[in-house]
Amino acid sequence: MAGYLVEDARKVTTHRLTEMKQQGKKIAMLTAYDYTMAQIVDGAGVDVILVGDSASNVMAGNLTTLPITIEQMIYHAKSVVRGVKRALVVCDMPFGTYQVNKTEGVENAVRIMKEAHCDALKLEGGEEIIETVRAILAAGIPVCGHLGLTPQSINKFGTYAVRAREEAEAEKLVRDAKLLSEAGCFAIVLEKIPAALTEKVCREVSTPIIGIGGGPADGQVLVLHDMLGMNKDFSPKFLRRYADLHTVMTDAIGQYVADVKSCDFPNEEEKY
Ligand code: KIV
Repeated sequence: MAGYLVEDARKVTTHRLTEMKQQGKKIAMLTAYDYTMAQIVDGAGVDVILVGDSASNVMAGNLTTLPITIEQMIYHAKSVVRGVKRALVVCDMPFGTYQVNKTEGVENAVRIMKEAHCDALKLEGGEEIIETVRAILAAGIPVCGHLGLTPQSINKFGTYAVRAREEAEAEKLVRDAKLLSEAGCFAIVLEKIPAALTEKVCREVSTPIIGIGGGPADGQVLVLHDMLGMNKDFSPKFLRRYADLHTVMTDAIGQYVADVKSCDFPNEEEKY
């Protein structure tokens, strides 16, 4: 494997992400939910680590991101922060912690920042939550937006299919991206939308755009466990698998079981 692409070893800041877009340098982002994985992801040169509420699916086995609590997100984010030296750490605000009203949104945002020690927060939605986004930014907390397929709204959408294929939804998405950008968001995730729409937003908005299932953008994000091939059942078109850890881990664990049962493990060297 070639050396890891870390051009600048300094801690990544939101300001640097803006510079990267201006200089045409791509931003690499991945999720992580725990200390050990965060250390590996950070050491491999990822610029932004997202403590995604996808932890609800990946770590807890829930069908959606809705059940994860603020306490659970803080636990995951704290664990990740302890493992990271360089990457910017962004934590998702979980469902229900910012949709009720602006005051509650700011209170919960402040709580996550104080307890998790992460660098920034991510919220799903555009116009509907713009006052809350502005208030969180006014409190000095960097915000990443998230538009397109926003999993916290899955019960409204009813499906995980590609969003914004229709003109009206595409126009709203561009309007929302401009609103989030003008409000001062440092980045915007665009999930599962047509590539032509992602390209338009990247062109028309100065804020770095991070795609997932949206084609080329200023940067890309994937769920770590998906790109490592740990989940055999999830294979959307946009996912590139960089490893087959499901097979590697199952083989290793299967070998361990066989070694214990055959009394091959532990051997003479493996005891005191
Ligand atoms: O929670 C998450 O992992 C996310 C990514 C899919 C962008 O929001």
